Amino acid sequence: MTTPKLSAKIMATYKERFDSPQIYVNTPGRANIIGEHTDYNHGLVLPFAIEQSICMAIGRNSLKKLRLVALDLGEDFEIDLIDVSFSQDNWSRYFKNALVAMGHNTADGIDVVFGGNIPHGGGVSSSSAITCGFIAGINYLFDYEHTVDYMIQLASQAENGIGLNGGTMDQTAIFKGEKGKAMVIDFQDFSVTKYSLLSEDYRFYLFNSGQKHNLVETEYNVRRETCDSAVRQVRAIDPRVETLRQMTASHIANIVVGETAKKRCTHVIEENDRVRSAAIALSAGNMSDLGPLMNQSHLSLSQNFEVSTSEIDYLVSQSMKIKNLLGARIMGGGFGGCTINLVKGELADSDISELKSNYHTKTNHRLSIMEVSPSDGVTVERL
Ligand code: GLA
Repeated sequence: MTTPKLSAKIMATYKERFDSPQIYVNTPGRANIIGEHTDYNHGLVLPFAIEQSICMAIGRNSLKKLRLVALDLGEDFEIDLIDVSFSQDNWSRYFKNALVAMGHNTADGIDVVFGGNIPHGGGVSSSSAITCGFIAGINYLFDYEHTVDYMIQLASQAENGIGLNGGTMDQTAIFKGEKGKAMVIDFQDFSVTKYSLLSEDYRFYLFNSGQKHNLVETEYNVRRETCDSAVRQVRAIDPRVETLRQMTASHIANIVVGETAKKRCTHVIEENDRVRSAAIALSAGNMSDLGPLMNQSHLSLSQNFEVSTSEIDYLVSQSMKIKNLLGARIMGGGFGGCTINLVKGELADSDISELKSNYHTKTNHRLSIMEVSPSDGVTVERL
């Protein structure tokens, strides 16, 4: 949830700039406990929608224009809907690409004022939150009656339009989030199994490294292509294998070409196993078992999948010195952004200051810390 102050500011700005909005959309970001770079490999993930969110006031206009106001950035755009196509420039692309993916009638103009408290470029899916929230809002406002599963696909197409060949973990977590619960999503059949995370004793914190990333500019797409290419190699010899999920250690050792590709595939196979173990731990109420799994995940993301950075490896190693911190790993696509940390009890102020100070001395980046807890997915309210 964003603050009542922000909602009031969004509404006031909308009234000042346009007229009265018709709907108000609240869209969470997402955290991921474990299961990274597995979604586009038909694998398993264990994310949850978070309380931090993007809020939008949305209404129709009769001007055939898309008028956007970003409160956080103090920027706005006015775009002729007639000219809208998949775009990669500035933040207006999230809205334009959503409309293109939805095939929205260009005669129906839309006004939006939005703001929120999800850090940008922090690997917490602020861009997916904008895309998913806007799609959910337009779906409601124009009576498209799309299902949630279809909107997840639309949001993913819209984001592919910015040049990122991503999976659908973020959009699924954002649409299907539920207060107090994390979810295992199985991308073989898109099934979702929810697990209660209501424990007074354990908390998740995101440590934002301050190392911003725009995944489109990273090697994210290269990682995906390496995985796809390994599947093609194995399939040529063993046609039963259609996805990386179905590969065995022997396929990797004997068929996949090159040490780098072998490491990437090994990460995916082992990460799926870690998600399975994490789900078992959650159903048995053994939260502390998640810690070592998260640590193994980080090691593998750093050494096998190579999506960590020296700054984040340092952050993880320092974080592990905190006595009641049970697990730490880089979260999301990688190459910067946040780590997710499992803590028994609460983080002590003295530990936070020491970590911040060491991290700043070593990297020159400022660390920011936020607690995250599982929240509901997108909500659309008629005003
Ligand atoms: C980004 C992508 C997701 C997923 C993660 C890595 O967040 O949007 O689809 O691939 O990276 O797990």
